[in-house]
Amino acid sequence: MSSNPDLHSQLKELIPEQQERLKKLKSEHGKVQLGNITVDMVLGGMRGMTGLLWETSLLDAEEGIRFRNLSIPECQKKLPAAKPGGEPLPEGLLWLLLTGKVPNKEQVDALSKELRSRATVPDHVYKAIDALPVSAHPMTQFAMGVMALQVQSEFQKAYEKGIHKSKYWEPTYEDSLSLIAQLPIVAAYVYRRIYKNGQVIPKDDSLDYGGNFAHMLGFDSPDMQELMRLYVTIHTDHEGGNVSAHTGHLVASALSDPYLSFAAALNGLAGPLHGLANQEVLLWIKSVVEECGENITTDQLKDYVWKTLNSGKVVPGFGHGVLRNTDPRYLCQREFALKHLPDDPLFQLVSKLFEVVPPILTELGKVKNPWPNVDAHSGVLLNHYGLTEARYYTVLFGVSRSIGICSQLIWDRALGLPLERPKSVTMEWLENYCKKSA
Ligand SMILES: CC(C)(COP(=O)(O)OP(=O)(O)OC[C@H]1O[C@@H](n2cnc3c(N)ncnc32)[C@H](O)[C@@H]1OP(=O)(O)O)[C@@H](O)C(=O)NCCC(=O)NCCS
Repeated sequence: MSSNPDLHSQLKELIPEQQERLKKLKSEHGKVQLGNITVDMVLGGMRGMTGLLWETSLLDAEEGIRFRNLSIPECQKKLPAAKPGGEPLPEGLLWLLLTGKVPNKEQVDALSKELRSRATVPDHVYKAIDALPVSAHPMTQFAMGVMALQVQSEFQKAYEKGIHKSKYWEPTYEDSLSLIAQLPIVAAYVYRRIYKNGQVIPKDDSLDYGGNFAHMLGFDSPDMQELMRLYVTIHTDHEGGNVSAHTGHLVASALSDPYLSFAAALNGLAGPLHGLANQEVLLWIKSVVEECGENITTDQLKDYVWKTLNSGKVVPGFGHGVLRNTDPRYLCQREFALKHLPDDPLFQLVSKLFEVVPPILTELGKVKNPWPNVDAHSGVLLNHYGLTEARYYTVLFGVSRSIGICSQLIWDRALGLPLERPKSVTMEWLENYCKKSA
């Protein structure tokens, strides 16, 4: 089975054994307690409350993300690359997330080819985007494009025809692969429409997923293509509880198709405490340079950080809802910068922030994680290669996130996961409950 180059056939083989596994877990351990729910958890955004099944990745607060048990450095080592020793191909990560197995080059090439064969976007999608003012936020235009793609949903058609529930995963797979294949085209269209007078660059079928995405945006340098492969790979998935992943999963639990579910996820990603932070980081770094120049001293930088905090704002790119250490997605981007652009002044500023910000956030006394996250780094890399439009950055994150969210959605349907419906309570209910249990 491991050498079969067809992803769909591999999944077909894997699904029955995973269904059995879930059934056994339910029947043998269904009543095992996973912890206590406290009032703090209910009031605190459900932090620390284990409540979701998410197969594709798992986050450790100290170590960071593992994609199907592989850390980011392990993925960089084991997943096929476009060139020897190069960054992993995102298609390889898609395969890994879906199957739990590291693909060989032939399997990844077959998947690249399949994605290319699905990469045609109907005209009405461009028209839907064109109906918005060019000044609309890139994420709004992107989400609009995804909604317009929904018209082609195979899941919706199959459901209307009365498909048996044991087969739900098949049209979900079809929709997911088509969506993943078409997103770079929609995303590049939004970029070229807003920033390049609408001059669209056609796809290049000789390129892989990440390389072609960079090409359609207008960047053909081999280093930018490598950056895009790395970028798309590391932003795919971050277990299930983050806003975009959870939203996608929640909406899909109502049997909304992958397009509807992913469009909802994108709207969550567009929030400044989540995906929009990458935009905020570069804008903030540029504001530092504007005010203090590129050769800012450590003391000036400290003052600027305090000024940001004292004006009631967060320092973008630092902190995390779950992580309690430097994000490995930050570290691999730092490695990339050290290899390809060590002298870039903005990279040097990012390095200085790595030294200056954590002690200040620690001094505040309330920040649970003073360390940098993924968003603290991505902007300066993109900026270095000429993708300077920070407002667009979250769209890149969105393209990548489709790979994680859709992989899990396929498993949601394959495993027959139910409608999500947690219990909510009022403050009055909590007060009465606490009085009774005192
Ligand atoms: C990511 C983030 C939303 C996590 O939120 P969280 O889980 O509530 O974080 P904490 O529990 O550490 O927050 C405790 C307090 O510290 C503050 N804090 C956390 N990170 C901070 C930061 N980078 N700068 C300033 N204050 C911060 C919070 O705003 C909160 O303050 P409050 O009690 O006055 O409301 C938060 O760290 C943040 O806003 N970071 C900046 C935005 C960002 O980089 N987002 C991308 C995440 S990948």
